[in-house]
Amino acid sequence: MSEIAIPQQAGQSQADDRASFERLFGTDDDLLPLWIAEPYLPLAPSIVQALETRASAGWYGYEIRPEGVNRSFTSWMKHRHGWDLGGTELLVSPSLGTSIGVALELLTDPGDGVILQPPVFTDFKPLVTRSHRKVVRNSLVLDGTEYRMDLEGLDDVASRPDVKAMILCNPHNPVGRVWTPEELKTVAEICSHNDVFVISDEIHADIMLKDSQFTPFATAAHGTDVRWVALHGAIKTFGLAGVADTLIVTQDDEFTAGFLSTSSRLHLTRNNVFALTAIETAYEHGGSWLDAMLEQVARNVETLANDLPEPVRIIQPQGTYLAWIDFRGLGMDVPELSRWLPQQAHLALSPGHWFGREGAGFARMSIAVKSPVIDEAIQRLSAAIG
Ligand SMILES: Cc1ncc(COP(=O)(O)O)c(C=O)c1O
Repeated sequence: MSEIAIPQQAGQSQADDRASFERLFGTDDDLLPLWIAEPYLPLAPSIVQALETRASAGWYGYEIRPEGVNRSFTSWMKHRHGWDLGGTELLVSPSLGTSIGVALELLTDPGDGVILQPPVFTDFKPLVTRSHRKVVRNSLVLDGTEYRMDLEGLDDVASRPDVKAMILCNPHNPVGRVWTPEELKTVAEICSHNDVFVISDEIHADIMLKDSQFTPFATAAHGTDVRWVALHGAIKTFGLAGVADTLIVTQDDEFTAGFLSTSSRLHLTRNNVFALTAIETAYEHGGSWLDAMLEQVARNVETLANDLPEPVRIIQPQGTYLAWIDFRGLGMDVPELSRWLPQQAHLALSPGHWFGREGAGFARMSIAVKSPVIDEAIQRLSAAIG
């Protein structure tokens, strides 16, 4: 294991402490932790160097956000994804969770329904229920080997009078779908027609595999009356979740006024000096590092597709560095699979049911890792299956 460079703390970052981690996965010291969505790779040298230089300045007081930070994001979006952000506003928020929480408060009332499309990122449901809103499910459909949105189902739930908002995951964590312009256009039309506000979580936008192309919801929404915001940031692309700072892209004046007022009331506006440095450097100089990571992830997908032991199989991701792995062929129920993965295969993965009941029988593996880590994970699975 020593040649496989995953930092000790990796995989524990969302468990508050060692005790929480052990509650999830047990006490095995030899667990391979691949459950958190972040790159487990040496990060871009340009970012590390810029942070070292910033740290050596010896001054970490209040800092005004330099215009270059948001400008670097705008330019990145234009050059990387062909998205012209002219005419939009960029709002700063400490995290996507904060943005979603505030958006739900501004756009909906307690008791209102919020559409989620499970299996979907684990934080969405508690963000909805803890603010006393209702989760309204429009489950994804697995057609053979690919997931799709149930657009008829979406039209049904969106037309309910209690439904006021939808959290769209674009691209989709955990199943790795990169939604097409046509799919997104239909979502925009349905939500426009039914007055449903779309919160489009686009944090995995940069993680495009092979020929996939990211479509911003904003582009799909063009020409409809749908109200929307899009959530972005460098945290996933460049492994910067620990330094925080994310962005909301919006053209919605009412939302902007509400967000700025909440942000000021709750003092969400403090700048992190290291985040400012890291983000600007990432967007200005991180492109080639990202390209190399994407190639590594694509290689890992191929290895998993070829070498996972029968009957385990990968659902091919089009985007994200997450592999959604189908263990249903093993015939285990949810508690059995949740125990088997850490205890028999010595892998800390995110069991599929964390993403909604639709994920039962699956597990999510983070695959922004070097090839030997994937080989090791496959070997552990093969040994456990026997
Ligand atoms: C789709 C998606 N949204 C949001 C987040 C988390 O964002 P934050 O930590 O800024 O709340 C993640 C983290 O994995 C994610 O995958």
